[in-house]
Amino acid sequence: MITEKPRHAGDTAEAPAGRDVVLRWAAENPGSAALHQRARGLLPGGVTHDVRLAEPFPLAVARADGARKWDVDGHELICYVMGHGALLLGHSHPEVVAAVRAQAGLAFHPGAGHELESDWAELVVRLVPSAERVRFTSSGTEASLLALRVARAATGRDTIVKLAGHFHGWHDQVAVGSDPPFDQPDTAGLPRGLASSVAVIPADEGALAGVLRTRDVAAVILEPSGAAWGTVPLPPGFLAAARRLASESGTLLVFDEVVSGFRWAPGGVQQVTGVVPDLTVLGKVLAGGMPGGAVGGRADLMDHLAGPAAGSRRVAHPGTHNAHPLAAAAGVTTLRLAAPGGLQAGAGRLAAALRDELTAVFERSGVAGRAYGESSTFHLLFGPESASGTVDAAALKNSVPPASVSAALHCSMLSEGVHLFHGSGFLSAAHGEREAEQTVRALATTLRRLQAAGLA
Ligand SMILES: Cc1ncc(COP(=O)(O)O)c(C=O)c1O
Repeated sequence: MITEKPRHAGDTAEAPAGRDVVLRWAAENPGSAALHQRARGLLPGGVTHDVRLAEPFPLAVARADGARKWDVDGHELICYVMGHGALLLGHSHPEVVAAVRAQAGLAFHPGAGHELESDWAELVVRLVPSAERVRFTSSGTEASLLALRVARAATGRDTIVKLAGHFHGWHDQVAVGSDPPFDQPDTAGLPRGLASSVAVIPADEGALAGVLRTRDVAAVILEPSGAAWGTVPLPPGFLAAARRLASESGTLLVFDEVVSGFRWAPGGVQQVTGVVPDLTVLGKVLAGGMPGGAVGGRADLMDHLAGPAAGSRRVAHPGTHNAHPLAAAAGVTTLRLAAPGGLQAGAGRLAAALRDELTAVFERSGVAGRAYGESSTFHLLFGPESASGTVDAAALKNSVPPASVSAALHCSMLSEGVHLFHGSGFLSAAHGEREAEQTVRALATTLRRLQAAGLA
């Protein structure tokens, strides 16, 4: 199964410890339970995204506003899922809602070029250092597929290198090595020959140098924030080394900034680090909460998409909803508000303070763990390895809480009015001190419950 961050391994059979915390939340949420019963007969697993599968059943939400949302049982929740990271401005920002409404009155789909697609592309080119040209898609997955196709067309090579644990959507070529164990396909249903054209390596300069020396590689694709939006940060200096090694071997460097783009800074991680890739994959914040994605990159590479003018190396890319006007309306409004960078800086400061306060809660409670993360995100890390201060793949492997702890953590935080995204969170410009304080209190209560249940 593909997830947007590493899944919690460990015990799969539900341990009795912590079950009361889960059952308490279940009892408080008959509406979500009933909707899940109904959905299970209609939607495989009762969900429409693998990552929403949850014990004892998924939360169902009725409406949302700013940093908060209300579930179908009427509970008010602080939202740290934020449209899987898409909602930098918060839920239903009034200017985004007004722009989408205005466009809906003009045309959903004119079946022709429109002004908003150029407005949108202009913003991407202005903000994202690597983007000289832009092609819009309907999702981040489509954008990563397109970037790799452009890379193969431009280099005339087949092999793609990706980093273990890095997620680039669910299309076949990247559905290998995202989930542990990293040397396996993440899903059934992949063509048998696929593995020969995709190499999965650890985020290690030597490993990258080795594969680029021994194979003709079209592209190296990676999350420049580190795997799963910084859950596993990259080793210091890795991005600059990847840039150098790719250039030396005629390989294209592709940054997947679907999460980090417009969030880490208006120009994403590439603006923060100064390491500029050849192609960038975008999504989420790009489209302001509507479905959308894009590839941005060097003009000579992107011109493979220019139709017959591109000749025999032409990259075909149709798509009914590419640059859909409603997505463009939300995207243009969001990017205009995000362009100065103040919103990201504010959300980043609040997230940094929240990470410190959550870590202090762990220390006061005596539970081994801490919060970490970058920009406007946080991740909770459990276990003795958290004390080392270094988060790498090895430390995380030993710190992954068993499924029973994850379920109890999730349900207890929900009972306290906080919706975490699998033990992590995205902040938005709508989050403030009030939300942070409630989250800190919720974690303190939750750690007490976990201790009482013998889970921490
Ligand atoms: C880094 C990254 N790349 C690509 C994707 C795929 O984007 P989408 O879900 O819009 O297809 C995601 C989705 O979470 C992502 O986190």
